[in-house]
Amino acid sequence: MSLNLFDTIPDFTQESTEGPLNFYDWARGDWVLLFSHPKDFTPVCTTELGAVAKLKPEFDRRGVKIIGLSVDPVDRHLQWAGDIERTQGAALNFPLIADVDRRVAGLLGLIHPNASDTATVRSVFVIDPAKRVRLTLTYPASTGRNFEEILRTIDSLQLTDKHKVATPADWKQGEDVIILPSVGEEEARALFPQGWTEHTPYLRTVAQPETAD
Ligand code: BEZ
Repeated sequence: MSLNLFDTIPDFTQESTEGPLNFYDWARGDWVLLFSHPKDFTPVCTTELGAVAKLKPEFDRRGVKIIGLSVDPVDRHLQWAGDIERTQGAALNFPLIADVDRRVAGLLGLIHPNASDTATVRSVFVIDPAKRVRLTLTYPASTGRNFEEILRTIDSLQLTDKHKVATPADWKQGEDVIILPSVGEEEARALFPQGWTEHTPYLRTVAQPETAD
């Protein structure tokens, strides 16, 4: 099964480095970053898990829980965690699912047989508090992901949900944003009483309503 944007993420219960984990109970009503790895003791994943552990305060600040997944068992995950701490200077500070029977990989469409029959692909799901998938990414096994970009996307999604704005190409925190095309003139006047710049009727920009700081 593959998941599309706005699909509801299916529930599952699986072993993890923090014990048996029921996904819906664990996620509750929070945002979630779920990311998968081909397997344990691989070089790119080692750097990624260290990078995410270091960025955890940034995910916390946005109300986003983090969970990783690969098909190795818990004892291998825990052994690998020692290497991650030693080589990356950051200890694992979020659960890693041990998807040994590939149940979760099947639900989330993480086995791509043309890539590998056994390893999970390097995917990312950002899931909103209503359990809907809001971002999917699948990267080559040999390319480490850019987690600053994932934080930037989460900032954009949260601004859209809260303020009915979109973010332009290469947008960064504090830069102008775009009023959603679905917002009519009257609603825009109520939402943005300070006014906006109308470049064309469909491209209206305003100062960012709030910053993440
Ligand atoms: C890895 O670190 O996961 C990896 C690196 C090169 C090729 C495939 C996987």
